[in-house]
Order: sequence, then C-alpha cells, then structure tokens
Amino acid sequence: MASRTVEPASRLAGEAPRVPGDKSISHRAVIFAALGEGVSHITNVAPGADVASSMACVAGLGAEVVRRNGDVTIRGGAWRTPADVLDCGNSGTTMRLLMGAIAGREVDATLDGDDSLRRRPMRRVADPLAELGAAIETNAGNAPVHVLGGRTLRGSAIHLRIASAQIASSLTLAATGAHGRTTIAGSGNARDHTVKMLPVFGVDVRREGDLILIDGPQPFRAADFHVPGDPSAAAFWLAAAAIVPGSHVVVRDVNLNPTRLGFVAALERMGADVTVVVEREQPEPMGRIELRQRALRGIAIEAPDVPPIVDELPLLGVVAAYAEGTTSVRGAAELRVKESDRIAVLAAGLTALGVEVATVEDGFDVRGGATLRGARVDSHDDHRLAMAFAVAALGARDAVTIENAQCVAISHPSFFDDLAELCRA
Ligand code: S3P
Repeated sequence: MASRTVEPASRLAGEAPRVPGDKSISHRAVIFAALGEGVSHITNVAPGADVASSMACVAGLGAEVVRRNGDVTIRGGAWRTPADVLDCGNSGTTMRLLMGAIAGREVDATLDGDDSLRRRPMRRVADPLAELGAAIETNAGNAPVHVLGGRTLRGSAIHLRIASAQIASSLTLAATGAHGRTTIAGSGNARDHTVKMLPVFGVDVRREGDLILIDGPQPFRAADFHVPGDPSAAAFWLAAAAIVPGSHVVVRDVNLNPTRLGFVAALERMGADVTVVVEREQPEPMGRIELRQRALRGIAIEAPDVPPIVDELPLLGVVAAYAEGTTSVRGAAELRVKESDRIAVLAAGLTALGVEVATVEDGFDVRGGATLRGARVDSHDDHRLAMAFAVAALGARDAVTIENAQCVAISHPSFFDDLAELCRA
C-alpha cells in the first residue's frame, strides 16, 4: 500500500466506525503493567505499530507479553538489562517514557528507532532526567540513546521548559524509582494520563495545579485496565463530517479527557454543532461525540491552546481549508519535531490541493473557501498527515492520491477500510 486514492464523498450519516484504543493510554498501560508485580490484563489496546514497539521493548526488559488482538496479558516485575538494543520503531512515546522508566530501575539499556525517530530531540528528556541523577548518553542529542545502569536516583524539583506530556511522564516514571520527593512543574494543560493511570497500578502521585508530586521509591502492582477509544482517531471522523455538507455522525466509546479535546473545542469555535456526552468517569472520562455539519469560519489558535490539540493541528489545517476566512496557528513549533516536520508537510500537501497556505517557524495560516482540486500529496511517512490528507479528499472536486499511505499502520491500521465504511454510511 504505497499510495492510496480517496474519492470525494457525499453526506456522511450515522454511527462512525469504532475508533481504535487510545495510543497514548495504551503505551502507558503496557509500560505500567510491565513494571507491576503479577499479571495485568489490558483490553482494547491500540492496534498500531507504535504500541507494538512498546510491547516488544518491555518484553526485552523481562516482561512476559501475550497478545490476542486487542487483549494483552502482561506478567511484569523486576526489569533486567536487555540482551539487545530496544527498537522503538517510529514511536517517540515509547522511547521517551522508557528512558525515564529504565533510568529509575537501574537497568542498562540502549534505545533506538527508525530514521524519523532518530531525527527527533531526546536531550529534552535526558537533561531533566540527569537532574534526578540519571546518566544518559545520546548521539548528539538524538537516538540511539544509552541509559547507563547502576545509578541511584534522588528526588528533585524540576521545571519543564516545554509543556510536554512525554517529558513529564518520563520524569514521573523515573521518580517512582528515585529516593525522596520529586516535583515536576510546567506540564500545563498537556495530557495527564500518567497521573490519572498510575494509581490504578498502585502508585501514589498527586497533582496540585501545575505541579506533579511523587514520593519514591514506589512499587507498581498488576491491574486490569480497559483502554478507551482514541480521540485523536475520532478526530478524523469528526473532521470528515465537519467538511462534507449535510453530515451528522456519532463516534462512541471515546476517551473524553479534556487534555485531549482541543480539536473538538476548535471545531465548535469554527461553527460546527458538537455534542460531547460523558458516559463513564474512571479513571478517564469516556463517552460519545456527535457532530452535525454547519458552515465553518476560520479561528486563531495560540500557544496556550496547543497542547490539547497538538496531534490534531495538521487536521485542523485541512478543516480550515473548508472554512470561510483564515485560520492561524501560532506557538506550535513542536510540530516541526514530530514524526515529520508537520508544518512543512501540511503546507506542501495543501498547496498541491490548491489551498493558500503561509508558514512561520511556529505555525501556519490557511486561507479557506477555495474548492480543493485533486492532486498527489505526500505523507512523508507521517501517519497523521496521511489520514489528514485522506479527509481533505472528501470535500475536494476530484480524487486525491496519498503517497506513502502505508504509515497509517502506526496508529490505525484499518484506517482506509474504516474511512470507506464511513463514506458508505
Ligand atoms: C504524547 C504526547 C504528545 C503527543 C504524542 C503522544 C504522549 O507529545 O504529540 O503523540 O503520549 O504523551 P508531547 O508530550 O511531546 O507534546
């Protein structure tokens, strides 16, 4: 599946296809279960290659992992130094969370990844971990990353310079193995799954405003955990319904943690008719999202809005092409160092589709209102861009061909089949 062609669609209606289990939560459930003494059962685990990387890595660290589709059984406990390099594939979350978890276990391990992951910055994690006493060698700031074993970590007060859930989570995991209290300031409104989920695995952690407080060392215990549907996957169905005239869809069993709903809030601000219904609360709110298409207008996204929408900003750029007026995004320099340079890849794709786009270092402006034309666009092996361009095709005049579309397997392997199902409904 090197390239995929997506045809324009007419009115989408009814139940959207089920979304896969939440990727962020699945990584955490797998890693926490691998640290817990005993057997954990995790259901609805994300099906993509990223979470498979986390499972392979924890197996390398000594956990027993048995997978039957979305159901995963993990026997965890003490970690050992792995025989081989741990391959994190394309997954930044795997590498960054494991750097902290491994540093806190006094295990010696090398983590590596694919070409995209090798380009992504790792000092942002290695440096604050060093403040706890960890010793981590990077390849000039990038992977491969070597976590040196045998260090005793000490609790410390850390101030993050980037409001990143990956960095905060990595430090929190290291802190569970450190002696004394660690406080982490600065994660702001970034996703808070780690703090919400750790108590399920027996770890006591507190959140006071912007501060995460954790006393170590603390053991993990095994637990049963159900992973809710991924709001970042639901976002594609919502975006599709938002741009195809007359549409009305419902997406069920979605994680409704507010730190993940920035895209839903943005669609509402743009004029879509959105209803969010929480049906279950613990440990993560979960329920349904319903969207009725309405005329859209451009909005401005500023730095404080970015963390809860960070993974959906390329998709917002696509929706913006279907809105009246200009949508601007600023304070999103992080997009430059995701699986691809998402500002550049989005701009190249939208330009090919006939949309006027301007980029700046930390964002972009999309002028909406033009009819999109059919074209060939390149995902640059970035799953979220491949899926965003597929959605762009639904409202275009002609079919859009997405090059390097196989990367959807990172987070949503059945994406193109599910999209076809959505368009048949
Ligand atoms: C993630 C956090 C985000 C997000 C990534 C997953 C996580 O990264 O972009 O896809 O699971 O913690 P940052 O925390 O670096 O912004």
